[in-house]
Amino acid sequence: MSSIEALKKSIEELKNELSVTIVAHYYQKDEVYEIADITGDSLELAKRAKESDSEWVLFCGVGFMGQSVKILAPQKRVAMPKIACCAMARMIDSTYFDESVAAMVEAGIPKEDILPITYINSGAEVKAKVGQMGGAVCTSSSAVSIIQKAMESKKKILFVPDRCLGQNVARKMGLKSAVIGIDKPQEIAQADIICYNGFCSVHQLFTLKDVEFFRKKYPGIKIAVHPECDPSVCEVADFVGSTSQIIKYVQSLPLEQKVAVGTEYNLVHRLRSKNTYVLSSTKPECPTMNETTLEDVYNTLLEIQKGNPINEIHVDEETIHWAKVALERMFAYLEA
Ligand code: 13P
Ligand code: SF4
Repeated sequence: MSSIEALKKSIEELKNELSVTIVAHYYQKDEVYEIADITGDSLELAKRAKESDSEWVLFCGVGFMGQSVKILAPQKRVAMPKIACCAMARMIDSTYFDESVAAMVEAGIPKEDILPITYINSGAEVKAKVGQMGGAVCTSSSAVSIIQKAMESKKKILFVPDRCLGQNVARKMGLKSAVIGIDKPQEIAQADIICYNGFCSVHQLFTLKDVEFFRKKYPGIKIAVHPECDPSVCEVADFVGSTSQIIKYVQSLPLEQKVAVGTEYNLVHRLRSKNTYVLSSTKPECPTMNETTLEDVYNTLLEIQKGNPINEIHVDEETIHWAKVALERMFAYLEA
């Protein structure tokens, strides 16, 4: 038995003994992904992890994902083998959030006419601010539905932190968008969706030139991308969707259909058949998603067994309260 297989076996035994649910995002390394009880996109992981019946959730992903489980199910104990941070989520904090609201007010939009929506890729404090202002969380798969619902309020949407997701949803819905710090105050005042200028450095790697390269090399190829990609890329793609939606789309294509996929490397590599390509000549690896190793998973389980847990997620009560309001609003909007 290889050392990886031996480690997987030990993890399996320990996990069952301790009644721990292991959750992994699609961007995790293959060997980590393979030992998980629950896998999925951010929306599915948030939903399913809070519903699991074990006391402990071991979340293999990035910080905001583990935090979301803790917020939705505060009675659960959540640990992460590595407290890895999503770089985009780190681009905004509560001060920058307040400054974005102030920039909209300066552009002539009264504070009571602003409805904030935060992408789930944000810290608990930002989610709490959004909850307090009557807003909601969205994920890449729920963004269009959430913004559709939010628009019924007739308010201006402040969308944080992903500029690209905000712009892509606006384009899809035929709405006007503007970006704080880039567009002029009049453009902000006239826009329906006002985006914070955050982005994912991994998804910025996919460019229009990559799309042109693949279309020229393989006429008839399909292009599937994540909505964190630049609007210029999403506009020309055949399919734009969350990680789960991309997987379903690629699997629905006939085997002989070539497809180039613009999202994180581990997911695309796992999908890879003869006719599936990574839409970039630069390896699109999310550095923090790749920090978690099988050894980390094993060691974190061992520390739980010893009664000395490491990397446990803690969020203060007030923040949990308001961040939960924003997350639960997303589920309520989706059910409405
Ligand atoms: P999904 O919600 O599509 O899983 O995306 C999460 C993410 O971080 C993409 O970069
Ligand atoms: Fe964050 Fe980008 Fe990594 Fe997704 S791929 S976790 S958005 S840094």
